[in-house]
Amino acid sequence: MGKIIICNGSPRAPKSNSKRYAEIFTQYYKGEIQYHNITKNNHKELCGKIEGHSDILFVFPLYADGIPVTLLNFLKTLEENPPQNKPIVSILINCGFLEFQQNDVAVQMIALFCKQNGYQLGSVLKIGSGEAILDTPFAFLAKRKIKKLAHTIMSQKYTTLHTAMPLTKKLFIKASTNYWLTCGKKHGITKEDMQTMQIES
Ligand SMILES: Cc1cc2nc3c(=O)[nH]c(=O)nc-3n(C[C@H](O)[C@H](O)[C@H](O)COP(=O)(O)O)c2cc1C
Repeated sequence: MGKIIICNGSPRAPKSNSKRYAEIFTQYYKGEIQYHNITKNNHKELCGKIEGHSDILFVFPLYADGIPVTLLNFLKTLEENPPQNKPIVSILINCGFLEFQQNDVAVQMIALFCKQNGYQLGSVLKIGSGEAILDTPFAFLAKRKIKKLAHTIMSQKYTTLHTAMPLTKKLFIKASTNYWLTCGKKHGITKEDMQTMQIES
């Protein structure tokens, strides 16, 4: 039976979509599971916990076409503090845009880390429309692929999977624009406000 450590690399890990995806994964993985959020201060502690696990699953979002800095910084610490027995590294990545291929560069970043540090890359699940899909009737598509991801890891038949909402780009843009405008309205923010840099502050 496998033993997996799940590391959530979302900068908003406690309230993240990644957390929701990880929770679904835990329903299907039939082995021992440890789950941790990556925080600013727990990198070394997490490195110590990896030893003894057959697999590690990085669950994280796409940020600016790459891996979030939370995860990047953790990988730097892991480079300096590797476990003696290296687990197989699998990935569950989600992005806001519709196309799952948007995640490809971030996956390549983890693949490069694995190559340079002697880890085997295991399974990969790329989710497009990941901000939205779990709250739509298409949630079953994501759940189905997460179940498959868990099975590939348990059976050590590692593979690459993907999913997204089956919408046209035009419909997706229309639906997501409506969603964000409604969300903004609830918080007293207009479309024009959202188009300025001040939205971050
Ligand atoms: C700062 C920032 C940058 C993002 N960059 C991208 C991006 O380049 N491409 C994309 O498709 N989604 C992007 N997103 C959307 C996130 O990937 C998406 O909202 C995801 O569901 C967040 O997952 P999380 O809740 O686990 O952090 C970005 C979101 C934020 C906040």
